[in-house]
Parts: sequence; C-alpha cells; structure tokens
Amino acid sequence: MGRAKKVVLAYSGGVDTSVCIPYLKQEWGVEEVITLAADLGQGDELEPVREKALKSGASESLVADVKDIFIKDYAFPAIQANALYENRYPLGTALARPLIAKILVEAAAKYGADAIAHGCTGKGNDQVRFDVSCTALNPNLKILAPAREWGMSREETIAYGERCGIPAPVKKSSPFSIDKNLLGRSIEAGTLEDPANEPPEEIYEMTKAIADTPNEPEYLEIGFQKGLPTTINGTSKNPVELIEQLNQIVGNHGIGRIDMIENRLVGIKSREIYESPAMVVLINAHRDLESLTLTADVSQYKRGIEETYTKLVYNGLWYSPLKAALDAFIQQTQERVSGVVRLKLFKGNATIVGRWSDNSLYTPDLATYGAEDQFDHKAAEGFIYVWGLPTRIWAQSNK
Ligand code: ARG
Repeated sequence: MGRAKKVVLAYSGGVDTSVCIPYLKQEWGVEEVITLAADLGQGDELEPVREKALKSGASESLVADVKDIFIKDYAFPAIQANALYENRYPLGTALARPLIAKILVEAAAKYGADAIAHGCTGKGNDQVRFDVSCTALNPNLKILAPAREWGMSREETIAYGERCGIPAPVKKSSPFSIDKNLLGRSIEAGTLEDPANEPPEEIYEMTKAIADTPNEPEYLEIGFQKGLPTTINGTSKNPVELIEQLNQIVGNHGIGRIDMIENRLVGIKSREIYESPAMVVLINAHRDLESLTLTADVSQYKRGIEETYTKLVYNGLWYSPLKAALDAFIQQTQERVSGVVRLKLFKGNATIVGRWSDNSLYTPDLATYGAEDQFDHKAAEGFIYVWGLPTRIWAQSNK
C-alpha cells in the first residue's frame, strides 16, 4: 500500500519537481501522478514544461493560465493592504502560493485524487503556505512533500532523475534559486548566502542598473478606483496589462530592487534579493492616496491591520478566518480611495510629486497660511486647555 493512489503534483519543469514524479511512484507507491503547472506570468514557455512532465512519467499534464486571477484576487487586495513584509518585501512569491494551492485542490477534486504533492524542501516558507492552504481548502486531502524527506543533494537528485530518464539540466544551472512571476523575482542562494556580498548585476532581469537608466526623469500617473489601480497616464488598463506595463516603465529606471535579511516563519534568517518594480510603486502610491482620502483615525488604525495582514499572508494563512475578517475591514476602508498619484521616476527612485482626488479630505482654507485662512485660531486655546488638563494635573501633583 502506497502513501496515496492518485496525486496532483505542483509542477514547474525544474529538476526537483520532475524527479518527484518517478520518486512518488517508485518510492512511495503512488499509482498515478497528474502534474499541474501554473502560468503566473513567469515568462517561461509552458508547452515544453507540459511535455516534460509526460516524459517524466506523469499520466496527465495540466497547465493553468491564472494570471488574471492572480492579479485581481491576490495582488490587488495586497496593494489595498499596503502589504510589505518587514516593511520591504511586497510578497511576490507568498501571494502566488495560495492560488496554486487552490487550483491543485480543484484539480484533485476533478480527477478524483486523494493527495496533493509539491517539491518544497523543509527549510522554506513555501511548504507551509502550500500545506496550510491545501488543508484549509480540503482537510481530507493528504499532502506529500518528497523533497522534504528524500535527503538527496542536488547532484544525487540529478542522478536519480537520469536513472529514470529525466535528462540533467542542459545549461549549467544558475547558482541562484529564483522564483518569478508577474509580481517580480525572488532570488537567493549562491554568493548571496553571505550577507556581506554585494548582489552581482547579472541576477537582475526586471530592473536596470542605475548606470544604464535614462538620464532624464519620467513622470508617471497612476489612477485608483476604490483602492484598485486602474489607469496609467490616464489610460485604462486591465489588471494584468497594468502590472506588465508598470514593471516595464518603472524597471527601466532601476526602481524596485530590495536586498534584505528576512525572518522566515521556520526561524531561519535568510538573505533575499527581490525585484518587484510594479508592486513597490503601486503600494507607495496607494498609501499616499489613502493619506489624502482617509480620516486620520482610520488611516492610523489601518497600519496595525496591515501589519497583521502581511504576516498572515507571509506565514501561509491566506485562507484563515482572521485573514477574512481583516479583508472585510480593509474593503470597507477603500470605498473612498479613488484618485490619481503622480510620480517622478529617476535613477532608482520613484518620488511622489503630486496627488488629487474627488474624495480628498484636504481642506485648503483650513490648511493655508494665507489670508483665506478659515481656521478659528482662538478655538485652539480652549482645545489645548482640555487636551493638556491631565498632564497639568499630573505635573502639579508631581512637584
Ligand atoms: N523568501 C521569500 C518568501 O518566502 C521568497 C522565496 C522564494 N524562493 C526562491 N527560490 N527564491 O516569500
């Protein structure tokens, strides 16, 4: 008796997930492996990936184009939440996992599989995100993670694959471990493992080196409707188009690189490089528009919600009751967050230089220092008397 009869495996076409196919069958007695590759805009040709799964022993090889759902249902809510893990990482990898889990669970139902499998090792966040998300969506499914148990080195994995007819990678594979999708690229390992080492220029694909960026600044206007980005320079864009074009425009100015030491859920600190041009700029612009359109208390209270939300997403709890409750709060706050943010892109910086909104709470005749000033200065005295009362009483009793 094997661990499962029929398995749906999250498939990327790489060595590890390819070796998972024969491994599941030979070592764990799985009868049938169906693979599923998600198109998240990573830019890889997926037809060869589909064929490779079949050559590696899959009975069925599925490819799902989920770009649109990815942006609409996963990235956009994260923008509304201004989600930056540890204040910096826009969650490009973390946001893709719950969506992949969802389509795995749907495929398992459709094909009558009793388990889900993935190629994650035991050291990362992604295993947690897959396992917890799949469990949340269907607690009856088993979850198999061969790479968490097989204990093979990279070389041993390749050798195992070759014995099963899976060719070793043709080009010398990159020393870096890279995950990519429409939201950006996450790069680790190789020389980056020493936090003192400067990232080599060759790891970047979506962002130009500052030396190669235009010598003239470029202005960019992003329009939002209820907290969702909808226009670039006044032209309406569908969600995928908007992200693709912003990645281009912003990456061309070398904006969106992040080099950080990050705290993983499993307790390890890791050195991560990200390039996430569109997301970095969208979150900054969105947060700025909120400062114009939300009341002070909502805006300040939301900061705490955002931090909790971001940790939940990073830690694999996308499908959790707390996350759903925070979503409801965030949605409520976005009702009035419509308007335009104007940025100046230049040499690695996206500086916000203007914003406007029909829902603006900025009141010129109260804010002005000019003659039009409508603010009742005398009223301030009474306000300060009451506001400072507890402090005055405390100071008197303290002397
Ligand atoms: N540390 C990031 C996260 O947990 C990215 C991990 C991406 N994986 C990779 N092979 N670079 O979301």
